[in-house]
Amino acid sequence: MPVTILGIESSCDETSAAIIQDNKVLSNIIANQTVHQNYGGVVPELASRAHQKNIIPVVKQAIDNANIAKKDIDAIAYTKGPGLLGSLLVGGSFAKSLSIGLNIPLIEVHHMQAHILSHFIYDENKKKSGFPFLGVNISGGHTQILSCNDYFDMEIIGETLDDSIGEAFDKCGKILGLDYPAGPAIDKLSKKGIKNRFSFTIPKVDKLNFSFSGLKTNFKRFVISEYEKDPSFISNEINNLCASLQSTITEILYQKVEKAIQKTKLCDVVYGGGVSANSMIRDVFRSKMENVNHYFPKLEYTTDNAAMIAIVGYLKYKNKKFGRLDSSSDAKYKL
Ligand code: KG4
Ligand code: ZN
Repeated sequence: MPVTILGIESSCDETSAAIIQDNKVLSNIIANQTVHQNYGGVVPELASRAHQKNIIPVVKQAIDNANIAKKDIDAIAYTKGPGLLGSLLVGGSFAKSLSIGLNIPLIEVHHMQAHILSHFIYDENKKKSGFPFLGVNISGGHTQILSCNDYFDMEIIGETLDDSIGEAFDKCGKILGLDYPAGPAIDKLSKKGIKNRFSFTIPKVDKLNFSFSGLKTNFKRFVISEYEKDPSFISNEINNLCASLQSTITEILYQKVEKAIQKTKLCDVVYGGGVSANSMIRDVFRSKMENVNHYFPKLEYTTDNAAMIAIVGYLKYKNKKFGRLDSSSDAKYKL
């Protein structure tokens, strides 16, 4: 009998529910929250309220689209953390209540582990990496390089000391007047720009760690000083600004991933997180790094989604790694 898992994700500003049968996705519903667009970032209070509104219809739609009944679900996997506490509590409380109602087990999932393990979602067109591999998690909340020895044996070997890579996109995008999240718009505008039109700071950071706050300050100072000389600077140069910024971010990431490959001798690299959707990162990494297998997720599994929570649920279910009704959501949940 196949194992059917309901996955629930509510760590930030996407309310998502998915049904997976073994490793195959039957449905993956994502309700994006548009309320944050004008604020340049996620407003935690508004995010929790939107999750409250969305959670029941999103779960219902996931079950309906999968063409299953509630009684067919074997377990419920939910994001325990890390993330915004108010948001996590909505998904966690809902998952617990439904697990009591249906009398089925609960499974706790680490959000960042799920980004990497989304790699194991069935896809007939994609080759899978074996273990060990290098994990590169690049999202709005995290920037980390991991040594992955097994599904649940991952060690962080490098991470950001300040802003995440996604924040570099979003905060610089805000300076240019782009809506949150700015990553997708920067990616799109960059295609029409010249990537070495402007040059920005590449920080010198020890080991495999990252820093993006200096780049943001450098970018902001430059844009403001040019804007003061010519108020049409941003609108005239938006494509070139985006391409140059994106190229700098790509280079910062490239240097560290290349160093991690040299250090660990791991030639299989699995990417996860919203920024792994970026087209320049994908193109540059694939074309410049020879003898390395780059595994980028399908676009629908890059940004936050419940299919990645459900695949971890399936892997944990097989290993009988069940959660407890009295455990709490954890905003700083450690790997
Ligand atoms: O993984 P995710 O959905 O949420 C977190 O766990 O943080 O990542 C969201 C981040 C945002 O910063 C967004 O701007 C960025 O992913 N993003 C992109 C692209 N698509 C999403 N950044 C660059 N290029 C993209 N195409
Ligand atoms: Zn995420």
